[in-house]
Amino acid sequence: MTVTTQVFHIDPGNIDDAAIAIAAQTLAAGRLVAFPTETVYGLGANALDPAAVDRIFAAKQRPFTDPLIVHLASAKQIDQVAVNVPGVIAALAERFWPGPLTLVLRRAAAVAPNVAAGRDTVAVRVPAHPVAHALLAACALPIAAPSANLFSRPSPTTAQHVLDDLSGRIDIVLDGGPTTIGLESTVVDLTTHPPLLLRPGGVGVDALRKLLPNLLAPDAPLVVAETEAAPSPGALLKHYSPQAPVVLLRGDAEAARRCIHTIAPVLHERGKRLGLLAPDEEFNNYADLRAEVVSLGPTHDLAVIGRYLFARLRELDSLGVDVIVARAVGEGDAAGELSMAIRDRLFRAAEGRVLDADDPHVLELLLTLT
Ligand code: TXA
Ligand code: MG
Repeated sequence: MTVTTQVFHIDPGNIDDAAIAIAAQTLAAGRLVAFPTETVYGLGANALDPAAVDRIFAAKQRPFTDPLIVHLASAKQIDQVAVNVPGVIAALAERFWPGPLTLVLRRAAAVAPNVAAGRDTVAVRVPAHPVAHALLAACALPIAAPSANLFSRPSPTTAQHVLDDLSGRIDIVLDGGPTTIGLESTVVDLTTHPPLLLRPGGVGVDALRKLLPNLLAPDAPLVVAETEAAPSPGALLKHYSPQAPVVLLRGDAEAARRCIHTIAPVLHERGKRLGLLAPDEEFNNYADLRAEVVSLGPTHDLAVIGRYLFARLRELDSLGVDVIVARAVGEGDAAGELSMAIRDRLFRAAEGRVLDADDPHVLELLLTLT
């Protein structure tokens, strides 16, 4: 069924209360509203209404086995959605909320079971974006909201991305401009002992360990087979993927330059369009390359890389490339707080295909992918 998707432009610095009120009523009526958060755009529905929550899964074509995050206006509402909340939550909320941290807790009975894909847990966060906050406060409901993209596509960081995927499938998009972090929240399971990092995101592990010293954080991205009943059902390998296959290319700038200048002409000869995602520092290496070269941002500023990563992957898709080579970034020592999240998203976009620039089989693999 198609609906007319209404778009309301909302200035985060000067919130239009009338538009927010309409969006809040729409949520209360069991309908879908996409809204900006500081991480990515979310697709919201009333978390207490199972029929409304079902609409999220239908609109996104998301498997019912993948649970949703519940968004609150304030940590004070936590008892509406969770039970047996551990004491450490007060300190975590004080330090990180509103902000890009999601905590998995024991689910309260009022929360629709399909929010949690039938689990007895619930993921909760208080987003920091003024538009998200205004909406959540106006409807005074816990709002289930996954990222507002079609399942397995890169998360949306602008209202246009939301429309590209979901126009005609949802009721309202609140356009509050591009999101600032650009990567989804960090997800931590507090129902396990020790607590477990399920998804790296906007809040880094070092900051978390100041309050959760025993936090278990797998170094390599957590990968879950499609059928497995695993701690983080969202950790499927194929995730955040553009339509063209992606390969991650490791190695220093010079090795990468040689490699890409070897493969680009061969792909071109075969009528295949190469997309290259390269950090600013390496951009000049590819000035005359027969490829679509898109900037990843400066390697010394992972906040910028994170902010635009999903938008760049979507941009490469819209350029109609057949295969994407992305330079691996965020791997050095000085990588910083967002490095784990960026490596994780790139790895998943590449569906785990990581190659060294001096590997003689790079070309072979690219040819089999196109
Ligand atoms: O930044 C964000 O977190 C964005 C914005 C909109 O808030 N939301 C988002 O939602 O990224 P989504 O649905 O794309 O990702 C939710 C992640 C998935 O990996 C899911 O499996 C996990 O959280 N999750 C949700 N509920 C869970 C639960 N009860 N137990 C374990 N993992 C859960
Ligand atoms: Mg998502």
